[in-house]
Amino acid sequence: METIKLNNGIEMPLLGYGLFKVDPKESERCVRDALSVGYRMIDTAQFYANEEGVGKAVAESGIPREDIFIVTKVWLTNSGEKAAASIQESLRKLRTDYVDLLLVHQPYGDYYSIYRELDKARKEGKARAIGLSNFYDDRFCDLVHNSGIIPAINQLETNVFSQQNSMRELMKEYGTSLMAWGPMGQGKNDFFTHGTLTEIGAKYGKTASQVGLRFLVQQGIPVIPKSTSILRMEENMKLFDFTLDKRDMETILTLNLNDKGSRDYTSPAYARRIISQTF
Ligand SMILES: NC(=O)c1ccc[n+]([C@@H]2O[C@H](COP(=O)([O-])OP(=O)(O)OC[C@H]3O[C@@H](n4cnc5c(N)ncnc54)[C@H](OP(=O)(O)O)[C@@H]3O)[C@@H](O)[C@H]2O)c1
Repeated sequence: METIKLNNGIEMPLLGYGLFKVDPKESERCVRDALSVGYRMIDTAQFYANEEGVGKAVAESGIPREDIFIVTKVWLTNSGEKAAASIQESLRKLRTDYVDLLLVHQPYGDYYSIYRELDKARKEGKARAIGLSNFYDDRFCDLVHNSGIIPAINQLETNVFSQQNSMRELMKEYGTSLMAWGPMGQGKNDFFTHGTLTEIGAKYGKTASQVGLRFLVQQGIPVIPKSTSILRMEENMKLFDFTLDKRDMETILTLNLNDKGSRDYTSPAYARRIISQTF
C-alpha cells in the first residue's frame, strides 16, 4: 500500500475505508469485507456510532494491529471534562490501546479543550498522530496559533468538484496534510457516470470512480471511499496500477466547481445544523 509521511514522521496509507452512514449493525461485516479485499486504513468516528463493529472486525481479522491504520474523531459534545473519558471509550469500543490518527471532528463548541486532550492522548501513546476535520481558514489558524499544536492532518470534503486548493496552500505553511472525505463527492454531480471521468477512464480501462480517486492519490491526498458493497469496495481500491497523464490531470483540474466543498461550511445555518446533532 502506498503511503504518505505525516509531519511527525509517521507513515499513513493513501487509501482507506470510510464508515460514515454505515449502519452500526452492518459495520462489522463491512470492515471484515474491506480488510478481506486489502484495505488497511479504517476511518470511523464517535458520531458514526459504529466504532464497536470496527473494533470487533479488526480484532477478529487475524491481521496484526500494527498493520491496520485506525482513524477516529471526537465529537463536539465530548469537550471539557468529557474529552478524556470519550477517548478512552473510543479505545474500548475499538478494542485497542491506541489509534493511529485522532481528529477533532468539527470546529464548534469547546474544541480547544478537545484538541488539548488529543495532544495529551498523543503524549500518552494513545494516538500516534492528531489532527482536525472541517477546519477552514480562520478557525484553522486560530486553533493552531493559540494552542501551539500543529495538526498532522485536516480532513476536508475533497473530490474532483471540490479540490481544496486554497486550504492546501494555507496548510502547506504548517506542514499539515489534507485527507479527503467524500472523495467520490457522495455521488453528487453524477460522479459515478460523469462524462469526462468516464471518457478518461476508458483510456486506462478504469471507471469514473477510479479516475476521480486516482486524481487525489496521485497528488498524495489520502482517500477513504465508503461502500457497503464488497464489489464496489474492490473497485474503489484499484488505484495504484495506473497513472493519469499530465493532460488528463489538467482536464480534471477544470472540474473544480466549488473549491471549499459542496456546502458553505462557514455559514450560520451550517453551524446551527452541526451543533444540534447529537448521537
Ligand atoms: N470528517 C467528516 O466530517 C466527514 C464527513 C463525511 C464523510 N467522512 C468520511 O469520509 C468517508 C467517505 O465519504 P462519504 O461516505 O461521505 O462519501 P463517498 O465515499 O464520496 O461516497 C459514498 C457513496 O458512494 C456510493 N458508492 C461507493 N462506491 C461506489 C461505486 N464504485 N459506484 C457507485 N456508487 C458507489 C456509496 O454507496 P454504497 O455504500 O451503496 O456503495 C455511498 O452512497 C466517510 O465514510 C467517512 O469515513 C468524514
